Amino acid sequence: TLPRKEQFLVGRLYKGFWLPEPYAPGILAFQRRFTPRPDDVVLTSYPKCGTTWLKALAFAVMARNAYPPAAADHPLRRLNPHACIPFMEDIFTERREAKLESLPSPRLINTHTPYSLLPETVTTGGGCKVVYICRDPKDMVVSLYHFLRHLQPGLSFSDTFDSVLDGTVPYGPMWDHILGYWHASVTRPDRVLFLKYEDLLQNTGEHVRKLAEFMGRPFSAAEEALYTVASIVELCSFDNMKNLEVNKTGATEWKCKNMAHDSFFRKGVVGDWMNHVSPEMATRLDEIFHDKFRGAGLI
Ligand code: A3P
Repeated sequence: TLPRKEQFLVGRLYKGFWLPEPYAPGILAFQRRFTPRPDDVVLTSYPKCGTTWLKALAFAVMARNAYPPAAADHPLRRLNPHACIPFMEDIFTERREAKLESLPSPRLINTHTPYSLLPETVTTGGGCKVVYICRDPKDMVVSLYHFLRHLQPGLSFSDTFDSVLDGTVPYGPMWDHILGYWHASVTRPDRVLFLKYEDLLQNTGEHVRKLAEFMGRPFSAAEEALYTVASIVELCSFDNMKNLEVNKTGATEWKCKNMAHDSFFRKGVVGDWMNHVSPEMATRLDEIFHDKFRGAGLI
């Protein structure tokens, strides 16, 4: 095992958050230079909490007139969800802002930036809409470990776990990341929608309706009669996405590091932590999060 500080996990502490080193300049550039349009929707998450799924669902909802979910040539059948929605860290690290400007409205964009570090133009005044997805930290840490192993073959699970516990994990501390978006969703419910992976998995259709309504694109009675919601749920389901040829091959084109498309589709379940995390470790993690979330009304 490599010493912790030599691992990819290392980040740069900025205003209370450990920004991943390769993306720190891009995050700051995003914060300073991004100008939202009123109908933009920013999809945000802590890494490994369902970003890929949220991207697919939001894209399918917004694109449904041009591309009915059952269409054989639907972009999500040809492209990985990360290719459909730009990742701000990457755009601003690579100085590809012109591409962002050229996108037609309404734009869907994505970032893992903590709420307090989002551009002020997003979080104040009219800004634009923000959708956040979070997940049980125990499942996140297992998912993160499997993902980071692709980047850092020597990584151990206990190092990954410890970095979540001490808050130095990329974009950590995770509790502050979640709390920032949670409080924003309470104070600005018309602007910030807070979703949980577990809820989404339990009743995907209900949450797709909620998401569509929040993004200003509610389903009409005619669409309901055509089972459009169910078709979107099916198109974006884990089994469907994982088995698409495009997601079995190829890789993202990120400046930091290309990631094989299949690394975004592992198990897609709730509770896989039980196969990796001992009861003692689970208790330690739960206690920290319960303590941090006390009084927030989140759990
Ligand atoms: P697991 O590693 O637990 O399987 P992110 O997209 O933020 O990187 O999160 C990845 C996690 O979401 C992985 O969790 C992955 O399998 C899961 N995931 C990806 N697509 C999904 C989908 N369509 N439905 C449910 N879960 C999905």
